[in-house]
Amino acid sequence: MPQRASLLILTMTLASSTAALAQNAPPPRNNNGNGNGQVNTTAATDPGLRTGPADAGSPLADLETKQWNFFAAAQDVFNEITSVFGNLNGEEGRGLGPRFNHTSCGGCHAFPSTGGTSPPRNPQIAAATAHGAQNAVPSFITANGPVRVARLVRDAQGRPDGGVHALFTITGRTDAGTCRITQPNFAAEVAADNVVFRIPTPLYGLGLVENTPDANLRAAFNANAALKESLGISGHFNFSGNDGSIMRFGWKAQNKSLMMFSGEAYNVEQGVTNEVFPNEREDEAACQLNATPEDGVPFETTPNAMSPAAAASSDTANVTMFARLLAAPAPVPNAAAVRGEQVFSRVGCHTCHTPTQTTGRSEIAALDRVSYHPYSDFALHNMGGRLNDRITQGGANGGDWRTAPLWGLGQRVFFLHDGRTSDLVTAIQAHASQGSEANTVIGNFNTLSRQDMADLLAFLRAL
Ligand code: HEC
Ligand code: HEC
Repeated sequence: MPQRASLLILTMTLASSTAALAQNAPPPRNNNGNGNGQVNTTAATDPGLRTGPADAGSPLADLETKQWNFFAAAQDVFNEITSVFGNLNGEEGRGLGPRFNHTSCGGCHAFPSTGGTSPPRNPQIAAATAHGAQNAVPSFITANGPVRVARLVRDAQGRPDGGVHALFTITGRTDAGTCRITQPNFAAEVAADNVVFRIPTPLYGLGLVENTPDANLRAAFNANAALKESLGISGHFNFSGNDGSIMRFGWKAQNKSLMMFSGEAYNVEQGVTNEVFPNEREDEAACQLNATPEDGVPFETTPNAMSPAAAASSDTANVTMFARLLAAPAPVPNAAAVRGEQVFSRVGCHTCHTPTQTTGRSEIAALDRVSYHPYSDFALHNMGGRLNDRITQGGANGGDWRTAPLWGLGQRVFFLHDGRTSDLVTAIQAHASQGSEANTVIGNFNTLSRQDMADLLAFLRAL
């Protein structure tokens, strides 16, 4: 378990980071199109990133020794760097490319600890030219900006596209043989306003989310139906086209399970074919450098591995279990945060950002019938024109987003699906625009006293 800061230390840290931020604090924000015309000129500011040790990244408490060992072995797999043949020094993951966004799960899911989200400095820049690769770094990937993946809105024929187009290719790498392919022309796509972005979501606590029965999600969603209606909030779940149950993973709740997301991530982000997604996405014959799948169940295991069960499982199964066994982020409450949680509910944030969910029965005792605090209903809401990315995934249209879980927010650098801001107040104001279900709640937020708003922000940064 990570060390918990004492109340006094936390209060001091919050106070000093507020002072540091005040010097280059952004001007008070305008009302952003929620229609009531009120501008809170004394708005409080984001206290900023909570410093100190990471309050996330540990395995679930009370794991059995065998489960703990699997977690430890799987964490190494999650951090493993992938190369084409897995034979480069320190890069033993096999199957990189032909196209990729980065070379390891742990590189994108890095902050504040392994399993999290984008670190403050973007690792994709170094990956673009590692081992002789000749990739240009697109304009939307910057040294101090978020890790991003890119989707195209329309294809070359003007039809809906929506898919991830990998930023980089292996061309030029010492391990790429004669594979020569070109990157998408991102400069042209940016100029045509045809490219949209997503940043990594943190993986902490996702075993709890996965093991929450649909019935519990529905009950929590319906519990405040009257309040939602009075605030103009509707929302709906995204259902799996395969088995009809509620999907909960990804910014648009577009994926059913951690295994499915992990398999997709291996193939889409790193180019590693696997048991879930067994075929290469790039057809160029000279670039088919490995037999498929590049990651699968090993027919032989290495003796004396820390976890024989992990050694006998595919990397995809390993990284899935790593995410499943990660504990939720640990909040670090203080007096202002306790007051702030009340303000959070008073203005109506909690109607979408549902504080508490409960898991069902689980084979893993640490996941069995426990309550947890994700601050999400895992439903989709229409968030209006400013957040609309014009991409449809299952039951999610362009303006629809899964209520982003707020746990771990205190140690997040980038906010919203595309990482457009590092400022909490900007992220909150972006909820309001033409057509957004959050307009009334953001209107309430804008009328808060400076003290109440400061308490609300302190609450969010204590999560
Ligand atoms: C290039 C950066 C990058 C790499 C590498 C990467 N991811 Fe991700 N990950 C993302 C992004 C971006 C999202 C959000 C995608 C979306 O919703 O469209 C995400 C989301 C996820 C989610 C969903 C979490 C949630 O809250 O719903 C899981 C699970 C996940 N990744 C697992 C992995 C695993 C396992 C690996 C390694 C095989 C991996 N990722 C590699 C960028 C990355
Ligand atoms: C109608 C439902 C709804 C309401 C009401 C709502 N939110 Fe959200 N919130 C969302 C959704 C959906 C997202 C993800 C939007 C995106 O990334 O485009 C989000 C994202 C956020 C984020 C960014 C999280 C991240 O992972 O980047 C913060 C912070 C946040 N909300 C705080 C609040 C606060 C504070 C309130 C109350 C003043 C509030 N929200 C009210 C639905 C809602």
